[in-house]
Amino acid sequence: MSIKFLEKEKLFKIDTAKTSYACGIVGDEKFLLHAYYGKKISDDDVRYLTRIYENPFTPDTNDRDRGSFLDAAPFEYPTEGIGDARSGCLELETALGHRGAQLGYVGHKIYAGKPEIPGIPATYEGMAGQDKNNAGAQTLEITLEDKVTGLTAVLFYSVFDGIDAVVRSVRFENRGKEPLYLRKALSLCLELDNEDYDLITLQGSWARERQIDRNPIGYGRHEISSIRGESSHQMNPFMAVAGRNTTRTTGEIYGFSFVYSGNFTASVERSQHNSLRCLMGINPVGFSWKLDKGETFNAPEAIMVYSSEGIGTMSRTFHDLFREHLICGASRDNIYKEAPRPVLINNWEATYFEFDTDKLIAIAKEAAKSGIEMLVMDDGWFGERSSDNMSLGDWFVNEDKLKGGLKRLVDAVNAEGLKFGIWFEPEMISPDSDLYREHPDWAIAIPGRRPTLMRNQYVLDFSRKEIVDEIYSRIKNVLTSANIEYVKWDMNRGLCDMGSYALEADKQGELFHRYVLGVYDIQQRLLTDFPNLLLENCSGGGGRFDPGMLYYSPQIWCSDDTDAIERLSIQEGTAIVYPLSCMGAHVSDCPNHTVGRVTPFETRGYVALAGTFGYELDITRIPKEDREMIPGQIEMYHKYNALVRNGDYYRLTSYKENGANDSWMVVAKDKSRALITYIKVMAQPNKRSTLIKPMGLDPNASYRILCDKKVLSMEGDVLQGDTIMNCGLLIKDNNSPDMWGDFRGVLIELAKV
Ligand code: GLA
Repeated sequence: MSIKFLEKEKLFKIDTAKTSYACGIVGDEKFLLHAYYGKKISDDDVRYLTRIYENPFTPDTNDRDRGSFLDAAPFEYPTEGIGDARSGCLELETALGHRGAQLGYVGHKIYAGKPEIPGIPATYEGMAGQDKNNAGAQTLEITLEDKVTGLTAVLFYSVFDGIDAVVRSVRFENRGKEPLYLRKALSLCLELDNEDYDLITLQGSWARERQIDRNPIGYGRHEISSIRGESSHQMNPFMAVAGRNTTRTTGEIYGFSFVYSGNFTASVERSQHNSLRCLMGINPVGFSWKLDKGETFNAPEAIMVYSSEGIGTMSRTFHDLFREHLICGASRDNIYKEAPRPVLINNWEATYFEFDTDKLIAIAKEAAKSGIEMLVMDDGWFGERSSDNMSLGDWFVNEDKLKGGLKRLVDAVNAEGLKFGIWFEPEMISPDSDLYREHPDWAIAIPGRRPTLMRNQYVLDFSRKEIVDEIYSRIKNVLTSANIEYVKWDMNRGLCDMGSYALEADKQGELFHRYVLGVYDIQQRLLTDFPNLLLENCSGGGGRFDPGMLYYSPQIWCSDDTDAIERLSIQEGTAIVYPLSCMGAHVSDCPNHTVGRVTPFETRGYVALAGTFGYELDITRIPKEDREMIPGQIEMYHKYNALVRNGDYYRLTSYKENGANDSWMVVAKDKSRALITYIKVMAQPNKRSTLIKPMGLDPNASYRILCDKKVLSMEGDVLQGDTIMNCGLLIKDNNSPDMWGDFRGVLIELAKV
C-alpha cells in the first residue's frame, strides 16, 4: 500500500497490493480530475487519462466553450449548477438562493493512519495501527475550495494494509462569511470509460431482502436509493459495476458500499460520450444542511473495491475489510470481534406476545439440556404490551408477565447455565403509550397533519438530544437491573411526515440525517457503558442491514423469513458484500411461519450454520426427533464456526440461477480446512450426479474428503487441491429418496493431511 503525490505531474497515485487509483490537478483553475482506477499499474504518470490534452474545450485554452469541458471532464468531485449537466456530488445554495459551485485544488496531506469521522461510523485502522512503525492504514486528504462562497471540501482517501479497497469520505467547511446550504453532498464519484457494463444491486422487500439483480447499463441515469429513513429492505446501499462477461471467478468488477444507515443514493450515469459516472452518498431528496460561518459537515464513508478476478474476490475483499476494520468499531475491545457468539434461542416465533416467566424458564431448562447457550426474550415484556398496538417507549418491565421482576427471571435463566438477552425497539413510540400521552410532540410529525402509522407506531424524533437521553436512561436502567449480555435492537417502520418540533424552518431538511446521527449516538453510548455487550441490529428483519450498523453490532438479523429455502437466496445476496459472521440466522419451527413450507430440521441447521446460528422455536413443543438433533447441531456449530466466521467465502452454485441446488464453501485463511454446504432444493428424475467445483484450496496440498452422508464416491479419499478444484466433486443426489428428496443437504469437509 502506498499513497504518493507526483509534484511535477501534479498527480496523486494510490496503490494497494493489486489495484491502483490516480487523479490529478489540471489547468490554471486547478480542477481535480480522475485518471485511473483498476488493476495495479507500474507507471505513475497517467495524466493523459484525465483527457485534458485531447479536449479542445479546456478552459485554459478555449474558455469560449467552457461548458463543453465542464459537461465532459472526469471530475473527481463534480459540482452542479455551472455547466456539468450530469448528476453531480455537490449542490450548493447561497443565502441569496443561488445554486452553483466550482471546486479547485488548494492543498493536500498524506499521512499514516486514518482519522475518525466524528459521530459517524467509519472503518478504522485496527490492530496493525498500534505498531507505529508498521502503519495499518494511510490517508490522503485533498482540499478543494469554491472561491466565490468560501466553501471547502476535503476529500479523504484511505487504504489499509493487505486490503484492495479505497475508502472515501468528504468534510465540508464554510470558510466564507454568509450561511451556505448543502442541498446535495455525496461521498463518492468514480468516472469510468464505459465498456458495456452491468449493474449489480441488491433489491428486496420485507421477508425477501437482498436478492441479487443484474442488468445491462444503458444510456442515461440509473439509480437505487432509499427515502425511508433507513437503508431499507427494498434496496441495499451497495452496487457493483461489472463487465458484461464478469462471472464469480473472472472479469472486472467495481463494488461500492455506503457506510450509512439512512437515506442513500447510488447511481450510474452513462453519458453522451459513453463515460460512466458512479455516485454514492446521502440521498439529496428531502435533504438540506445549513452551514453557518465556520461550521463543518461530514459526508459518511463510501468504500470502493476493484477486482479483476470476478465477483468472488470483490466479496472476499469486502468481508475482510468489514471484519478487520469496521465490525466492533464502537467498542474496539468487544470480545465478539473475535469470540464465537453464544448459540441463542429466541422466543419470538415460539410464543409471540404470549409468555411469562414460567414459560421462559421452561424454554431455558429444555434449551440448557441441548447445549443452547443464551435465551433471548423478544418483544412483549414491557408496559402493557400484549400485541404490537401499544407501549413502545414504556421501557418498564411488565410484572404481570414477569412475576417477581426481570432479575428473578434472568437469575433463573443464568442458573440453568444460559446467558440472557433482551429485545428493545428504542426509536419508536406507540400512540397508546404513557410516553406518548406525556410527550405527543416527541414523535416525528408535520404540525397540523396526522402522521402516518405503520405497525400502529410513530417514530421518535432522535434529532433531539433530550429524547435520546430519556430513552437511553430507560434502557440503561433495564440493562443494569439484571445480568443482561445481549440486546436485539429492532426498528419496525420507516420514516415519513418529516417534521421536528425542535428544528428551525431552514433546518427541517436536516431531520433525516440528524435522526441517523441520534441512532448512532445512542448505540455508541450503549457500547461505551456496556463494552462487552453483544448487540444485534434488526429492522423488521433485514431492513437496516448496512455497514453503518455493523460498526455497532457484529451481527444483524437477516430477515423475518426464517424458511431455510427462502434463506438460501437471501443469504447468497447478503454474502455478496457482508461477511457470514454478521448474518443473523436461526433454525425455526415448521411449517414455516412466513411461507408455510416444511423443510427437514437438519437442513434448517445447515442453512443457519452459514450465519450466526441459533434457534427460534418453542423447544418444549417441537417434535422429539427434532429436539434430539439439537445437541448434534450445536456440536457441528462449535466444530465449524471459527471457519465460517473467519474464513474465505466462495459461492459454488446458486439455486436462484439453476433452480435445483445451492452450494457454498468456506476456506480457512491458511487453507488447512474447508467446509462445503450443498442443499438440493428440487428433486429431479432420471438425473446424473451433480458436479460441484470447490475453490480456494491450496493446489499443492493434499486434502482428505469427508462427508456427513454416503453420497460421495471419493468419500474418505485423499486428493490434491488442484485435482479437487479442477475435476470437482461428484455428489450422488440422483437416487435414494429417503436420503434425498427435496430440501435435503450435505456437509463436506476438506481437511489438509
Ligand atoms: C420484528 C423482528 C422480529 C421480532 C418482531 C417483534 O419483526 O424482525 O424478529 O423481533 O419485530 O415485534
